[in-house]
Amino acid sequence: MSNIVIIGTQWGDEGKGKIVDHLAEFADIVVRFQGGNNAGHTMVIKGKQFISHLVPSGILQGKKCYLGNGMVIDPDVLIEEMDELTKNGIDVSPEKLKISEKAHIIMPYHKMLDKAREEMKGDKKIGTTGRGIGPCYEDKATRRGIRFVDLIDPNVFKEKVNAIIEEKNFYLKDFLKSETINPMHIIDEYSNYAKRLAPHAVNISVAMSQGIKKNNKILFEGAQGTHLDIDHGTYPYVTSSNTVAGNACNGAGVGPKDITGVVGIVKAYTTRVGAGPFPAELFDEIGDRIQEKGAEFGATTGRRRRCGWLDTVLLRNAVRLNSPTGFVITKLDVLGGLEFLKICTHYEFQGKQIDEVPASLKALAECKPVYETFPSWSEDISHIRKYEDLPQNTKNYLKRIEELTDVPIQLISVGPGREETIVIENPFQ
Ligand code: IMP
Repeated sequence: MSNIVIIGTQWGDEGKGKIVDHLAEFADIVVRFQGGNNAGHTMVIKGKQFISHLVPSGILQGKKCYLGNGMVIDPDVLIEEMDELTKNGIDVSPEKLKISEKAHIIMPYHKMLDKAREEMKGDKKIGTTGRGIGPCYEDKATRRGIRFVDLIDPNVFKEKVNAIIEEKNFYLKDFLKSETINPMHIIDEYSNYAKRLAPHAVNISVAMSQGIKKNNKILFEGAQGTHLDIDHGTYPYVTSSNTVAGNACNGAGVGPKDITGVVGIVKAYTTRVGAGPFPAELFDEIGDRIQEKGAEFGATTGRRRRCGWLDTVLLRNAVRLNSPTGFVITKLDVLGGLEFLKICTHYEFQGKQIDEVPASLKALAECKPVYETFPSWSEDISHIRKYEDLPQNTKNYLKRIEELTDVPIQLISVGPGREETIVIENPFQ
């Protein structure tokens, strides 16, 4: 049995998409277990770039892909992606792409609420992606959500929309001073989505269990990153789901014994989109250089990502929360050519060195990063395929990450292409 969870260790955008794509080759099944179209990764089909927000990239390699019960799904976006993939000759038939009956459905009012609330917050906004993610999870928690199984039953769907719409419109109009929505429009629009998507419905827990019995290899694909986790992240500047490895079990209907490994994706530096504290953030020309060279723009919103040095206080937090069996270092090539590199080893808080991320945002905002400085390398490392061939300074940087986190590095990404990868140990073996 070999079932691996992939999670981001920082604030998302660690380059999970490329690594999932790389490892999907060794898997039989790829499952997403949380989040929705707030995530995004770039796929390349026949030389053409395509950003997927919901469908796992394993679909390109003909793997069975599942959207887990822990996800929130915007059916319009999903159908658009399926159409684009079909146009490019990719099989997204119900044999290949399956949707958990228990996944929650993003409704038009979720998106309207997300945007109107952010607007109302002014400079206190979270910087959400505006895709309705939070309001959809909110309805899930208050037991008024609409699940995929409800969407595909016309009578249940109508009943559920009619039961909730008055309250949503009241809130939109009277509190948020925003537009309202006609329930008949929703029912018309969504009944078309229901017809199209119904054949993809699956009991994901049963499907996973059957796969495991057949000794299928499963890749559980996390979205966002550990520090955007609703419980463990920099709350409230977080997303609305659990992004840590443990949620692969909840979000895909498997027990913990079925997971055999956890791969933590670590970008060689730190980035974050949206608001919230970021102790190792760079506000100088080095930050700008990293942002430009790393093309650090959000795949979903196109926003410029904030950039900073690698922060191992965050990484050790991610290690505690996810128990990774290995790390993948991504975008290492971006750091080449800088005069020096820094790694944040601790924070200084009220005159003391601390080694944890404080729960209080006020305290976290006061934390000053304590750095070790390293010489960088000037060589272009993007063509290197063997660890031994990396410049000594690059190896020193990687070795220090392993020492500071006590996690072995299994893969190193030195460029966006699938082949631009150094494999030290395949997590699937
Ligand atoms: P939401 O998930 O749209 O509610 O946004 C909440 C916070 O999570 C915002 O700061 C977003 O920028 C951030 N976020 C959501 N999805 C991603 C992602 O895939 N990568 C990085 N940040 C994300």
